[in-house]
Amino acid sequence: MTGAKHQLLDELIASGIERREARWIIEEFALDDSPASIDNARRAGERRAQGEPLQYVLGHWPFRDLDLDVDPRALIPRPETEELVGLALEQLAFRASSAPLMLDLGCGTGAIGLSLLFELRERGLPATLVCVDASSDALDLARANARKHELTAVSFVQSNWFDDLDATFRGAFDLIAANPPYVSEAEMATLDPVLGYEPRIALVARDAVGVGGYADIEHIIRVAPSWLAPSGVLVLEHGEHQRDAVKATCEEAGFSTLNLFDDVSGRPRMLVARR
Ligand SMILES: C[S@@+](CC[C@H](N)C(=O)[O-])C[C@H]1O[C@@H](n2cnc3c(N)ncnc32)[C@H](O)[C@@H]1O
Repeated sequence: MTGAKHQLLDELIASGIERREARWIIEEFALDDSPASIDNARRAGERRAQGEPLQYVLGHWPFRDLDLDVDPRALIPRPETEELVGLALEQLAFRASSAPLMLDLGCGTGAIGLSLLFELRERGLPATLVCVDASSDALDLARANARKHELTAVSFVQSNWFDDLDATFRGAFDLIAANPPYVSEAEMATLDPVLGYEPRIALVARDAVGVGGYADIEHIIRVAPSWLAPSGVLVLEHGEHQRDAVKATCEEAGFSTLNLFDDVSGRPRMLVARR
């Protein structure tokens, strides 16, 4: 690191940024020693020092095998969601479909669906993906991520969950994957204010059947069977206090099997339900 960059590193650390993050910011924005480059990095450092998540400041972040563009138009993909993609891939392998049709419901950056498409392509499987989101901003970002990774077998639909999906998809999906919003209004008020940088629509859901933040998940579990192919699977992330509720709703919705999974920290967070 040269003199100007060293000086900036000290400045960023003094402003409260961790050394490792300060280095990343400098590597990302100070491409050379020109004053313009150093200024870019300083402005990025100021955003981080004011509390903006590092992922938004850098503008991209790894998710499984992809380097995804991330910005405040969509949720920052979480490590637990990487586990959800792993579960989905296991299900697809088990299903042995040679060209699976997949739905990423509430796609955000496209993290789940685009990872599946990418990793299946690596395995020589020509899958097709539909990405749905209510947010046109999120869909724009997901489209950019698909272009970035040259993933073309994907279409994007702005819709309130299943409402505006083409009816020809009824009974057709091999896999529906979703990480819906599941934080209640009440809980949101108690969480780290850093979540305020992310879109509220990505985090907060109405309560249902007496369970905080459960309305979107309940709706998806009830409606998914009619969009799944016979023995197709729903792979879903949910809040850690929602396991009893998801079990009950899956039974009522008539899935033939249900498997529940903890995340890597041991919290009850995911389900796989087979039509
Ligand atoms: C928790 S984020 C998940 C984003 C991404 N799948 C991920 O795991 O990083 C939930 C996503 O659902 C979308 N969403 C919220 N309400 C929706 C609705 N009624 N219909 C469709 N999408 C919705 C949000 O815009 C957001 O992108």
